[in-house]
Amino acid sequence: MHVPEKVAARLHELGAELRRDVSLAEHTSLGIGGTTDEILLRRHETIPQIMRLLADERIPHKFLGGGTNVLVDDGDLPFVVLHLPSSSPGMHVEGKAAYVDAAADLGGTVTFCAKHDLGGMEGLIGVPGSVGGALRMNAGAYGTQIGPHVSEIELYRATTGEIETLRGSDINFDYRHTSFAPDDVMLRVKLELPSKPYKEILAGIKVCNEKRRSSQPLNQKSAGCIFKNPPGGSAGRMIDELGLKGHRVGDATISDRHANFFVNVGHARCADMLKLIDDVRERVRTAYGIELENEVIVWRN
Ligand code: EPU
Repeated sequence: MHVPEKVAARLHELGAELRRDVSLAEHTSLGIGGTTDEILLRRHETIPQIMRLLADERIPHKFLGGGTNVLVDDGDLPFVVLHLPSSSPGMHVEGKAAYVDAAADLGGTVTFCAKHDLGGMEGLIGVPGSVGGALRMNAGAYGTQIGPHVSEIELYRATTGEIETLRGSDINFDYRHTSFAPDDVMLRVKLELPSKPYKEILAGIKVCNEKRRSSQPLNQKSAGCIFKNPPGGSAGRMIDELGLKGHRVGDATISDRHANFFVNVGHARCADMLKLIDDVRERVRTAYGIELENEVIVWRN
């Protein structure tokens, strides 16, 4: 989608940077996605005005965080993408609280907190993506989720059109699901973390990294787990039991290492990945009577 010149001029006045014809294949860990204009939100305080401008001009938009849990359609996309600049995000510690910008890398945040003797997030070390994306999805791994550590969050709230600060207890953090509205934009978080010696945190981080390296295809293009685990079950185990590892549609392939990771082994198209997802959902439904729900977020044209 092409932002009209008069809107581009107004965005510039509001301190946002417009990038034309950005390939989302280059901004997503799956390496799949078409092209559109991207708006870099360089000033938090003008976000409400920018959102109003996009609404007034009827410009559909989506917010992209780290791009690690999203499957984007191919071709010319009918929406623009909003993005927070990720270079040198703010991070500082006061007592047992870490204040972190949403654009910060999640793994980098875990390490930063560890260096200040703040632990509790070791399990999240290898979860790719931004802090904002982790908050929205309530990212988790190895028994840790980010939600319980959230003390306060500053966000643009779609319902009020303003920047607000919410308490962690005002938000429902469930398994890979939160009560944020789709158009809310995470800006900054205060994490309340337990004190722990750096060496102890480092040992925990090492264990999680090793587990992940041995069970997940880390050097391939993926969006992490494609499906949520059904209550009490494991999507990966079920897909594996059905003998589907290595099954492929075009260049979209089920990983040999972890059956809930679908990897792009070449030039997979969104349609290939969607076909693979639907095939697997159907096979699991037939064999187990369970309807798998997507964990990956799909942006269709
Ligand atoms: N298993 C298999 N075959 C496979 C994959 C898994 O038999 O191909 C078995 C494992 O041996 C194990 C069980 O299934 O007994 C569970 O597997 P694993 O420990 O790998 O965990 P998971 O439930 O598949 C979840 C999260 C991951 C997270 C890991 C570690 C979901 C959908 N997935 O995977 O998160 O990294 O636990 O805590 O909740 C993600 O969210 O994208 C993600 C990758």
